[in-house]
Amino acid sequence: MKNILDAPFIKEICEITDNMYRLGWDERNGGNISCSLNECVVKEYIDITKVIRTIPINFDAKELSGKYFIVTGTGEYFRQISANPENGLGIIRISADGYHAELVWGYKKGGKFTSELPSHLMAHMTRLKIDPEHRVVMHSHPTNLLAMTQVHTLDEKEFTKSLWKTITECIVVFPDGIGVLPWMLCGTNEIGVATANKMKQYRLVVWALHGIYGVGSSIDEAFGLIETVEKAAELYLKTAHLPKLNTITDEQLMEVVKGFKVDYKKEFFK
Ligand code: 13P
Ligand code: ZN
Repeated sequence: MKNILDAPFIKEICEITDNMYRLGWDERNGGNISCSLNECVVKEYIDITKVIRTIPINFDAKELSGKYFIVTGTGEYFRQISANPENGLGIIRISADGYHAELVWGYKKGGKFTSELPSHLMAHMTRLKIDPEHRVVMHSHPTNLLAMTQVHTLDEKEFTKSLWKTITECIVVFPDGIGVLPWMLCGTNEIGVATANKMKQYRLVVWALHGIYGVGSSIDEAFGLIETVEKAAELYLKTAHLPKLNTITDEQLMEVVKGFKVDYKKEFFK
């Protein structure tokens, strides 16, 4: 059996949580990540017949039965995950009945998966139907984006277009736009259902006054989406109160999507 602490998937999640912390996006225990893992990869590092604990999930995740996920632990500080991955992370397998997570590694201090597991698993279910390559759900509290949700309308078209117009390549990175949810209580099945519903058409969902969700086929892809939105939000805030002399027009956005041949959200140009 190989040493799990050397596993590329552990190294990758440690590196990204360190980066997210240093970017100031994930204060204290803010933010969470889940990433699906192939059983054959997991088996190289741990005995998957040994279930450490079975932890209830208060919703039906049967569509994901038998799938493995590495998930950040609730209450775990992103700043400390890389120093103690076995405390801050866990590998779970969704049970046959869909209502339990079987812990096969991690949460060594007796902890459990993020309180946002409903949003993560529901988003995985939705995105897997759209994108068979889908693997990662990432939640974070990026500073500029959160400030923007205090001063900008929460209309999805207006919010997305304000961001698209800050950097020419934003529309190439997230041509599908950004879903926006109003303030809702976090950690609940309700916000999970609402988030997963938005994920039917968006890979990015903003929770007003709280944070953002990004998804993708890899940690890099989910991170890259969030990082681009955060940079755009920073530019928006730096200029929102100043007289605008130059802006990217709708016509120029159309030129970009044609030039880069991306499938963009057509409704946002009506
Ligand atoms: P957890 O510590 O449970 O992951 O919660 C952090 C968070 O960002 C809640 O939205
Ligand atoms: Zn959060």
